[in-house]
Amino acid sequence: MTIAQTPPMGWNSWNVFGAEITAETVMGISDAFIETGLADAGYEYIVVDDFWHADQRVNGRLMWDEDKFPDGIRPVADYVHSKGLKFGIYSCAGSHTCGGKPASFGYEEVDAQTFAEWEVDFLKYDYCYVPPGVDATTLYQRMGQALRATGRPILYSICEWGSNHPWLWGSKVGGHCWRTTGDIDDSWESIVDIGFIRQKGLDPYAGVGHWNDPDMLVVGMYGSGNPQVAKGGCTDIEYRTHFSLWCLLAAPLMIGCDVRNMNQATRDILLNPAAIAINQDALGRTGYFVGETLYAYQSAEVWAKPLAGGSLAVGLFNLGDMQQRRITVAWESIGLHPQRACDVYDVWRDETIGGIKGSFTAYVDSHDVALLRITPQP
Ligand code: GLA
Repeated sequence: MTIAQTPPMGWNSWNVFGAEITAETVMGISDAFIETGLADAGYEYIVVDDFWHADQRVNGRLMWDEDKFPDGIRPVADYVHSKGLKFGIYSCAGSHTCGGKPASFGYEEVDAQTFAEWEVDFLKYDYCYVPPGVDATTLYQRMGQALRATGRPILYSICEWGSNHPWLWGSKVGGHCWRTTGDIDDSWESIVDIGFIRQKGLDPYAGVGHWNDPDMLVVGMYGSGNPQVAKGGCTDIEYRTHFSLWCLLAAPLMIGCDVRNMNQATRDILLNPAAIAINQDALGRTGYFVGETLYAYQSAEVWAKPLAGGSLAVGLFNLGDMQQRRITVAWESIGLHPQRACDVYDVWRDETIGGIKGSFTAYVDSHDVALLRITPQP
């Protein structure tokens, strides 16, 4: 099965809709995927997170909330498929979901079967209300096996928050990606914590078909939506920095804002083809932390992601709150000979400077990034 050969791209209901997700919204998001060009840009999975469920199983089967999904789940999946998109759903390895709805512990096989019958293409599998004495690997392996046994290719998105180092066993239990941290929220502090601090050192564990997942994108939320996530909001510069890092990290690009109402700044970030190409690069390498310069407890960081064909993507990030910084990437620090002439393409400025040797320096504003594609000349 060739699932997740590049990091999954799509949308998830949690960040904006939380407990209020409905069939109508999911269908509207699917329409917006087509109208806005998100589908053409590669965004594919429409995922319904927690709170789609009724409070009780019926005949041992998970049941939908009839107010939110009056015709059930399958017609919604059919609608998503009719747009050429893929449909995802959410369950949990414990007895209940994090929101307290019935979940899959002890029902792994029947639930996987139900999801396959609904023609689900993606399962996000959470870690709340797990029974004592059963380890995470065992629980995730059970659902991995149950999904495989359905015969339907279903992308398995492990959401265990990194507590038990899922990067060590996620792929063995059939996972195509695994959350490496707790939940992101819509604030600069959260982006720094989850993205810059907690992803360092995790690059060796991911690759084609199995990806580190630093959680969903908060780009375009501007502090509105599910109160558990929508904490204050960010500036467009901060959202662009967030997106740039997620592209370098080969992270799943799961949009969390309401794509039916995106402003131009949000579109420009989420639809930038050169940024997406870095994320989706066929080599499947995860970006790594090259180094930092410290200024009174605030840093400028350099991250690099080797790309197929010998280019590298590099991010020069100014994490400081106060002022512009000069940030330099030395060719030697990313494996290039100092005398090697390279073309440097600045993704957000959409301009190329040719024939650079030794190093490249950019002036980067507070919380901003220079996202570069560095290509050695032949
Ligand atoms: C957990 C997950 C979130 C979201 C909620 C839903 O907190 O980490 O991503 O799925 O549960 O209740």
